[in-house]
Amino acid sequence: MLVLGLESSCDDSAAALVTGDRVILAQVVVGQDEAHRPFGGIVPEIAARAHVERLPQLIRQVLDEAKAKPSDLDAIAATAGPGLIGGVMVALLAGKGLALAARKPLVAVNHLEGHALSPRLADASLDFPYLLLLVSGGHCQLLEVRGVGQYRRLATTIDDAAGEAFDKAAKLLGLAYPGGPAIELLAREGDPRAVPLPRPLVGSGEPHFSFAGLKSAVQRAAASGAHRPADIAASFQQAVVDCLVDRTQRALAACDAPTLVVAGGVAANQQVRSALADLAQQNRRAFSVPPGWLCTDNAAMIAWAGAERFAAGLTDPLDVPARARWPLDADADKVRGAGVKA
Ligand SMILES: Nc1ncnc2c1ncn2[C@@H]1O[C@H](COP(=O)(O)OP(=O)(O)OP(=O)(O)O)[C@@H](O)[C@H]1O
Ligand SMILES: [Mg+2]
Repeated sequence: MLVLGLESSCDDSAAALVTGDRVILAQVVVGQDEAHRPFGGIVPEIAARAHVERLPQLIRQVLDEAKAKPSDLDAIAATAGPGLIGGVMVALLAGKGLALAARKPLVAVNHLEGHALSPRLADASLDFPYLLLLVSGGHCQLLEVRGVGQYRRLATTIDDAAGEAFDKAAKLLGLAYPGGPAIELLAREGDPRAVPLPRPLVGSGEPHFSFAGLKSAVQRAAASGAHRPADIAASFQQAVVDCLVDRTQRALAACDAPTLVVAGGVAANQQVRSALADLAQQNRRAFSVPPGWLCTDNAAMIAWAGAERFAAGLTDPLDVPARARWPLDADADKVRGAGVKA
């Protein structure tokens, strides 16, 4: 089985060709960090235009690299949401056009399902069910993954996502966008115990995450001038890790899945990876985390999710809509808080 994956839901334009037996024949990811850097965050209009300019060339590039033609494909998988709607439409419309022209089935992939199934692309032994900590720029959730398309949300953030917190903390420290890798680098020179920072909701009876109070505390610590930026970065990173570990421990107690899995951009962070690996070991669960390049946005995970859905008989009509919001667990209760994503 050969699947083309297309991704443009945020600020990375990406295309990949993946086989049903987990071989990535070609893949390319082109970021837009330079274009957004002057604004300290992603500007949706700039992102959408950049996707339009780049994606056709990236599709040609992966097909050429793999010496494949559209007629060789079994399916075309494109992210159909959630994300910045102008960007989401670019890959989805490109996928629809190709599917129509080449008379191939279209798979409209939920970007979060791309993250959720990405560990199975890297790890052939990873079976369902598993407990997934999905930590990315827009989401921070604990999900029981029962199968393709089968998700039960156990927890979500009541305010900011973990990646969003990294990006905001980095901005407060004057670091370049995107903030996660910049904080991780600076934190290596800092003392994680130097700055007292809160761990919102840690130890609380409710299952959810919260990072807004931590961000405000970073703002105060930075404004006080009393701390080295490296110490603030290290202390902030430690606080996020402590929150992720505490909330995941709580979910492990409520979920008997044999494996703990971490995915999404923040799972590229070494401290996050090792803390969650330790937690799994303490709870006698297996542990799986994809390589860092597969944690941040890419099209290989979209092609793989497409391959999994196609194998399960799940394809989509050509009028499938692009969606700015698209929860993995449509039955999950809404949680309190402003800016709640899903
Ligand atoms: N090494 C790292 N440490 C901490 N955070 C990181 C690291 N690398 C990336 N991130 C964070 O991961 C986020 C990007 O992840 P990803 O690309 O999965 O998010 P997204 O696609 O924008 O959001 P979503 O997947 O929720 O729609 C950013 O917030 C970035 O700062
Ligand atoms: Mg993502």
